[in-house]
Amino acid sequence: MEKKRVLIPGGAGYIGSHVVYTVLKTGKYNVAVVDNFHNSKPEAVRRVEQLVRDESGDACGDVELIEADLRDAAAINKVFADRPANDRIYAVILIGALKAVGESAEIPIEYYDVNVGGLLNLLTAMDKHDAKRLVYSSSATVYGAPETIPIPETTPMDPHSPYGRSKQINEMIIRDVCAAHPAWRAITLRYFNPAGAHPSGYIGEDPCGKPGNLLPLLAQMAVGKYREPGLKVFGNDYPTPDGTCVRDYIHILDLASGHLNAMVALDDDAKFVNAKNDGKYRAFNLGKGVGMSVLNMIDAMRKATGYEFPYEIVGRRPGDVPNLTADPALAEQELGFKAHHSLDEMCRDLWNWQSKNPNGYS
Ligand code: UD1
Repeated sequence: MEKKRVLIPGGAGYIGSHVVYTVLKTGKYNVAVVDNFHNSKPEAVRRVEQLVRDESGDACGDVELIEADLRDAAAINKVFADRPANDRIYAVILIGALKAVGESAEIPIEYYDVNVGGLLNLLTAMDKHDAKRLVYSSSATVYGAPETIPIPETTPMDPHSPYGRSKQINEMIIRDVCAAHPAWRAITLRYFNPAGAHPSGYIGEDPCGKPGNLLPLLAQMAVGKYREPGLKVFGNDYPTPDGTCVRDYIHILDLASGHLNAMVALDDDAKFVNAKNDGKYRAFNLGKGVGMSVLNMIDAMRKATGYEFPYEIVGRRPGDVPNLTADPALAEQELGFKAHHSLDEMCRDLWNWQSKNPNGYS
């Protein structure tokens, strides 16, 4: 059977590399990765290819790696244009974006330029070259600080940062495109907190500099980095069981598999009958539906790593909200998606990656 080619902008990053792995493992697709290596390395793609070949031999697809920036409209157009007729782009899974909430408040123009401008360039090329299937990575941050937990997709969007608003704007742009053109099909995935790594320890998260996110920071502390001045827990006066913020941590391989469910669903018209005036456009949460506090996560990582994590409670981090826990029911009903990995597996796999690669891919 001929393999279809899936374009994955951002495929060299943490989430992207695990999505590339998951798509290749089906044996049904080839992949083209577009990445500017702003927060990623080509080595991640090389390792994915190696891993899939080791596990599945030649049955799996191939990967083209193209260095290009989503802001470069001509380069993005070329990705679609320069292809033989039997190797057109079948669908796009857009993952590449700027994603640091605090930074987005300091340099909002860059955030809108990369995230929104990049999407527009991509949509323009997809439209022109008749590649009208899109899976888009959004974030639970679009919900702001919702009152109802767990959070259903019907919760109004109310993001609190330029980063979050770039995701909201993009969701609306994609919805409008689908509403206007019946040939377009798109599914937005609102990620909760992805963590962990492929159990081989061959691919994982390799942030530039000191991680701002909790799980990669804990992993790096356990391996001996950033132990001074110690871990800071941002606030213990939230309305949660232990006072620290609650998040819905989902194993990266579960999150990655959700992209596959979404891509397959794009071709099923029945998935869009509830989309009403949005044409063939839907948005789904990708979470586990289990809330874990910061202290729960420190404890889980202590068990996985054996490191005690001395910490102090400090003031709240601007922009944090008390609780982001998904209602995962819609994605289960309509996409057949369920997060299977346990918290212990997530922490074990994260530690396996970090201890085997203390300096990431370098
Ligand atoms: C953040 C973003 C989210 C983004 C995700 C990945 C917000 C509101 N959300 O998620 O949009 O998609 O990163 O980049 O910023 N914590 C500590 N000490 C630390 C680090 C974190 O106590 O040193 C706490 C935080 O206060 C938070 C929890 O750990 O309560 C999780 O933080 P983090 O891993 O940064 O993820 P989010 O803030 O949920």
